[in-house]
Amino acid sequence: MNGILTETFYIKTMGCQMNVYDSDYLAQRLMAMGMSPVDNAREADVVLLNTCTVRAKPEHKAATYIGRISQIKKRKPNLIFGVLGCLAQQEGPEILKRFPAIDFVAGPRQIQDVIDILTRVAKGERGIVATALKAPPPEAKILDGYYEGKVTAFITIMQGCDNFCTYCIVPYVRGREASRPPFEILEEARSLVDQGVKEITLLGQNVNSYRWATDGSYWDFPSLLREVSRIPGLKRLRFTTSHPKDVSPQLIACFGELDNLCPHIHLPFQAGSNRVLKMMNRKYTREEYLGLVDRLRQIRPDIALSSDVMVGFPGETKQDFEMTLDLIKTVEFDSLFSFKYSDRKGTLAASFEGKVPEEEKSERLCILQEIQKQITLKKNRALEGKTVEVLVEVRSAKGDKLSGRTPTNKIVNFRPESKILGNIVKVKINKAYQNSLLGELLR
Ligand code: 5AD
Ligand code: SF4
Repeated sequence: MNGILTETFYIKTMGCQMNVYDSDYLAQRLMAMGMSPVDNAREADVVLLNTCTVRAKPEHKAATYIGRISQIKKRKPNLIFGVLGCLAQQEGPEILKRFPAIDFVAGPRQIQDVIDILTRVAKGERGIVATALKAPPPEAKILDGYYEGKVTAFITIMQGCDNFCTYCIVPYVRGREASRPPFEILEEARSLVDQGVKEITLLGQNVNSYRWATDGSYWDFPSLLREVSRIPGLKRLRFTTSHPKDVSPQLIACFGELDNLCPHIHLPFQAGSNRVLKMMNRKYTREEYLGLVDRLRQIRPDIALSSDVMVGFPGETKQDFEMTLDLIKTVEFDSLFSFKYSDRKGTLAASFEGKVPEEEKSERLCILQEIQKQITLKKNRALEGKTVEVLVEVRSAKGDKLSGRTPTNKIVNFRPESKILGNIVKVKINKAYQNSLLGELLR
C-alpha cells in the first residue's frame, strides 16, 4: 500500500511539450510507488490536470475540463483532483476559490513535490497551494518499461525564461532560467535509448541559453548537443525552442556536423515589422532574422524551418501586418503556428494602448493562414515522387496505417508492414496533403 491510499491515476495534459515531459515524469514517479495509470478520468482515484496559460484559448480549455471533473466529483466525492502547471501557477488560491472541487494546485516548478502533496491530501488536508518557483528536480530516473513501444521521447534540459517578451506570461509562471546538469541529461538520454527510444527532443523555453559550469568544465547548448548526439543507438536528435537572438555560430555549425541531428529548426519570429519586434522586446530585427535563416540554409540547404507568429499585437498597423506577410513569403516556412494576440494578466503588453479589435485580428489571421497554407502545400507537393527516410513511430488505432516523420519533421503515412516500428525506412511519396504525406514503403 502506498502512502496516498489510492490505486489509480489519470493525468490530462494540455499545452507544450514541456508539460508532456512533466506529466511523464510524474506518471513514472506514481507508478514507481505502486499506482496504476487508467485511460479515463472517470475510472481514476486521482485526476491531475496539467495546464497551460500562454494564450486565452488553452486557459478556457482548462476551465472547461475543470468543470467536467467537478461534475464527476459530485458523484464520486473521494476523488482527488489536482491542477498543475502554468494556469495553477498563475491563479494559485484564486482557482481553488472558483472551483471548490480542486484539492490542490501545484505550479510547473513543483512537479517533484506532487507525490508529497498527494500524501497530505490523502490524510485529509485540502486547499494546498504549491507555487514556489523551485530549482529543477534533482533526478529524473526512467522507470523500467515506461517507454516500451515508444520510439520518440522528450528531455527537458532547462526550465524558465529570462527574456521577458512583453506579451509573454512564461517568465512569470515558469520563473527564471535554470539548467539541469549535463551528466544527468546524458544519463537520462542513455537510459531512454537503452529502453528502445530512437529519437530524443531536447526541450527548453530557450534551449540556446543552456549553461552549466562546474570546476574546470563549461557547457553551453552546442556542447551538450554534441555529447547527446554521440550516444550509440540514438538515431535522431531534435531540440526546441530557440530564440533567434541566441542562435550562435557554434549551434549553426552543429547542423553541418552532427549526423543524427535532424535538419529542422523551430525559430519563432513573432512579427515581421521592426517596430512591432521592438515593442515585443524581441531584441532582433527583421534583417537579423532573415540573415540567420540564410546562414542556416547555407550550412544545411535541406533544413526545414518552422515558426510561431502573432497577429494583432497592440499597435500593429496594416503596414506592420503587411511586413509579417512579406517575411512569410520571403522565408517560405515548412510549417507555421499562427495566433491572435491575447492579453496575459501581468505582462507589459497587457497595459499597452492601441489594442486591435477582435474582428480585425481574426481577419488578419485568416489572410496569413491562407498564404501559409499555399506555401506548406507547395513544399509538400515538391516531395511527390521523391523517396524520403521515415522513422516509423506509430501504428494507427485501426492498424491500417503506419505513421512516422521525415528528418525535416513532415508526417508520412503508409501501409503497414510488421516489425518495422522504430526503424528508419525508405518511403516513396505518392500524394501530398496540407498536414501530411502519403507514401509506399520501398524495400
Ligand atoms: N498572445 C498570443 N500568442 C502568444 N504567444 C505567446 N504569448 C502570446 C500571447 N499573449 C505565442 C507565441 C509563442 C507561442 C508559444 O505562443 O507565438 O511563440
Ligand atoms: Fe503553456 Fe508556456 Fe506553460 Fe508551456 S510553458 S504550458 S506553452 S504557458
